Amino acid sequence: MKDRKTYSESLRRSKDLENAIIQNPQNYRILTGERPTGQLHIGHLFGSIKERVRLQKLGTETAIIIADYQVITDRDEFKNLKESVDGIVIDNLAAGLDPEKTMFFCHSQIPELNQLMIPFLSLVTEPELLRNPTVKAEMEASGHSLSGLLLTYPVHQACDILFCKGSVVPVGKDQLPHIEVCRLIAKRFNERFAGVKYGELDKEGNPKGMENAVFPLPEALLSKVPHVPGLDGRKMSKSFGNAVLLGMSADETAKLIKKTPTDNERTITYNPDDRKEVSSLLTITALCRGLEIGGDGEQQIAEEINSDPKFGAGLLKQKCTEAVNEALRDHREKRSELAENLDYVHKILHDGIIKAREIAVETLKDVQNAMGTIY
Ligand code: TRP
Repeated sequence: MKDRKTYSESLRRSKDLENAIIQNPQNYRILTGERPTGQLHIGHLFGSIKERVRLQKLGTETAIIIADYQVITDRDEFKNLKESVDGIVIDNLAAGLDPEKTMFFCHSQIPELNQLMIPFLSLVTEPELLRNPTVKAEMEASGHSLSGLLLTYPVHQACDILFCKGSVVPVGKDQLPHIEVCRLIAKRFNERFAGVKYGELDKEGNPKGMENAVFPLPEALLSKVPHVPGLDGRKMSKSFGNAVLLGMSADETAKLIKKTPTDNERTITYNPDDRKEVSSLLTITALCRGLEIGGDGEQQIAEEINSDPKFGAGLLKQKCTEAVNEALRDHREKRSELAENLDYVHKILHDGIIKAREIAVETLKDVQNAMGTIY
């Protein structure tokens, strides 16, 4: 069996997977993770949360792993964690995820999930871990030497996915190497401990012994929305001050957009290489108006601005502010209602933790059975 390596292959596979989900939504559990490192912004909302809502509307169940241990992989700060966790639950609910069909939980609260880490670590080698490009990039950004946890967090992420035998994982491109590690671990576990022979096929073309497999080989589902840039064209990040946070008011949003730098050219054009500030304001405006981004939507807005006697960066910022505030109006209303009702938010999280733990206990039993560690 060949593991899928390239982005275009993953993209093609994501399309097939999406069609399969549409056909039989009840067969899939959508499993995805969020690291609680601060307030969420419109990049999260458009890049991943709205995707989850869309998939849930097709009829799937959703599990949202709040990866609190992941926070200490590449930063020293472990502050305001509770607020960040509450924020994740609040923003996902405000965007329309159904609390009846969504299991929210923090992975630190599920001992049986964490226990999978020990057998899983035995299934990967040091060079395999060291060559993970996302881990390398995170280490460089952290400015620290590689910690044991950062090196092995893709294995921990495999625990997040496999503890509930998750099969579909919506992620961004940067997470593809981790999904490969997860597939490798699932496959090697099935081979080593459950007698599956991926190299030998039966009459139906399935690997021999597949009926004894403990884990499925999960698939990445790449987001339909391409990368959302920050207001100034750099990566959207709270620390760069270029992110519209979901918790901001309409006025705060207007102020933030107003002070975003632009260039001196009055005619607005979409050119992400040479005019990254103007281009990202166009992208965000297009995205918030529900237009196609990456070219057409941006051109349309640029033309609209250039044909106005007041054309220029000021008008672009005004249109961007209007579009963002309009797109976030409902979300903000619901999120402030939920923020007033934290008991309800906490109940959803606690129920999710109980449910996740029940699932993890069962999976750990399967693992122990396969490994023969039952005494
Ligand atoms: N590593 C992911 C990120 O940095 C978050 C995450 C943790 C995750 N566990 C997961 C994503 C399981 C998908 C499935 O964004």
